[in-house]
Amino acid sequence: MRSENLHESDKPMAVPPAPGVAVQGQPTPPLVILAIDDDTGMLEYYHAALVNMAVRIESSTDPLRGVELAKTLNPDLTLLDLTMPEMNGMEAMERIRLSNPEARVVMITGDYSIESAIRAIQAGATDYVCKPVSPEKLRKIVQEAREQVDLTRRENSLENQFAEVFSLEGMIGRSPKMLEVFDLVRRVAPHLGTVLITGETGTGKELVARALHKLSPRAQQRIAVFNCSALVDTLAESQLFGHRKGAFTGAVSDQTGIFEWANGGTVFLDEVGDLSPAAQSKLLRVLENGEAQKLGLPQAIRVDVQVIAATSRDLNVEMRSNRFRPDLWYRLNMVQIRLPPLRERREDILLLARHFLLSFTSQYRKEIHKISRRAESALLAYSWPGNVRELENVIGRGCMLTRTRMLDLEDLPEELGKQYIPAASAFSTMGDAERQAVIQALGEERNKALAARKLGISRARLYRLMEKHGLADDPSAEEGSTEAGGE
Ligand SMILES: Nc1ncnc2c1ncn2[C@@H]1O[C@H](COP(=O)(O)OP(=O)(O)OP(=O)(O)O)[C@@H](O)[C@H]1O
Ligand SMILES: [Mg+2]
Repeated sequence: MRSENLHESDKPMAVPPAPGVAVQGQPTPPLVILAIDDDTGMLEYYHAALVNMAVRIESSTDPLRGVELAKTLNPDLTLLDLTMPEMNGMEAMERIRLSNPEARVVMITGDYSIESAIRAIQAGATDYVCKPVSPEKLRKIVQEAREQVDLTRRENSLENQFAEVFSLEGMIGRSPKMLEVFDLVRRVAPHLGTVLITGETGTGKELVARALHKLSPRAQQRIAVFNCSALVDTLAESQLFGHRKGAFTGAVSDQTGIFEWANGGTVFLDEVGDLSPAAQSKLLRVLENGEAQKLGLPQAIRVDVQVIAATSRDLNVEMRSNRFRPDLWYRLNMVQIRLPPLRERREDILLLARHFLLSFTSQYRKEIHKISRRAESALLAYSWPGNVRELENVIGRGCMLTRTRMLDLEDLPEELGKQYIPAASAFSTMGDAERQAVIQALGEERNKALAARKLGISRARLYRLMEKHGLADDPSAEEGSTEAGGE
């Protein structure tokens, strides 16, 4: 039996911070490295060589266990031995990259050959390196991974700065439609009287109502939130307008109504379309005359409130079927804020998803640093009938379920996973395309001169490209042709 995890897993190494890697003054977390090699000596060597770098190293001598660790740990860098008895390094890499196509894997091998280098790189290895690996080379590999991680982090923090710009009182959005909503909220709030907010379920109507209150001159006063569909008609009426003891059977004591309670502040009436006809006419009286009619009291009491009403129903339909008073509708609809469904503002989906990811990771005290690209594609492709609330629930559920540091397809509900259609492989940079071209030419032609000719470049240039992309030949290997090339 071989020993596994030679080094304690969760103990970060006590290291001084690596110079020049802090992002905006924040200490950078150590780079998480997974080393898989059947040779314990090699694993110990990694630890020794990287002792002064800001890294946390996990290791395993068993490739099967290593593949499992890669899944749960989602390391920033994997150092993978090519030749191991239980499982070939190539297969291990394929499994690792199957569970995370973005994994950065460096193959380390004792017996170098250009063929296996090409195969490894074609299969997605970031680099292919010969043993013995000098400490300098190892540190260079780690430094490159560090730079990549920092770049992603900087991009994300840039994204977070944008999130601040494109947010209003806890509402996030960058789509033109949401920016219009923010603008309207800002303009209306200082003169708040009566506003109607419309939009499908989960689009953020309550959030807008609260933002309006907070930005209004009455922000320091009370806000009462009342859901008109939650109670039977008479109870709703007495809650809204209050009643005197004995006003009806069961009225055992005086009750202060919501309008009275929030006097001087704001009343938010959610699902206003569900109000009974009697309550509708009483509401109209509040809006027109500032009078609230308490049940069992002969005279009305004076109230001065800002009224925000919301509905997810089409009130025009309700009016046509005589369920909603047109005069009340005109009163409420003087200013309407319409919240677009999420499917009409796809630019907001990932911004919101990342915002919820941040809030759930701190809530659940989990270290989930990102959403995988394929999971993001699935989020973008979905139609979101439950709008932002559904997105919030999906991310919350994913954060609770995931066992890795990244939210991936398998952490999303099944109907979302089905939305993901793998894109045809595309090169993300010119460098990738260049490397792929070199690999292909070398794969087709063993002879470098012929490979160079195929690429339409000189042999000297081919060598430089091979060097640049980590495909440099073993110096001891024989070279066939003698043709020298100029550029
Ligand atoms: N633009 C947004 N930015 C951040 N969070 C949002 C946004 N819109 C909605 N949410 C969140 O989505 C959830 C649903 O929002 P809210 O309750 O305001 O929707 P609603 O339109 O009132 O829904 P319903 O019609 O079902 O009552 C809340 O948790 C809210 O915080
Ligand atoms: Mg609501």
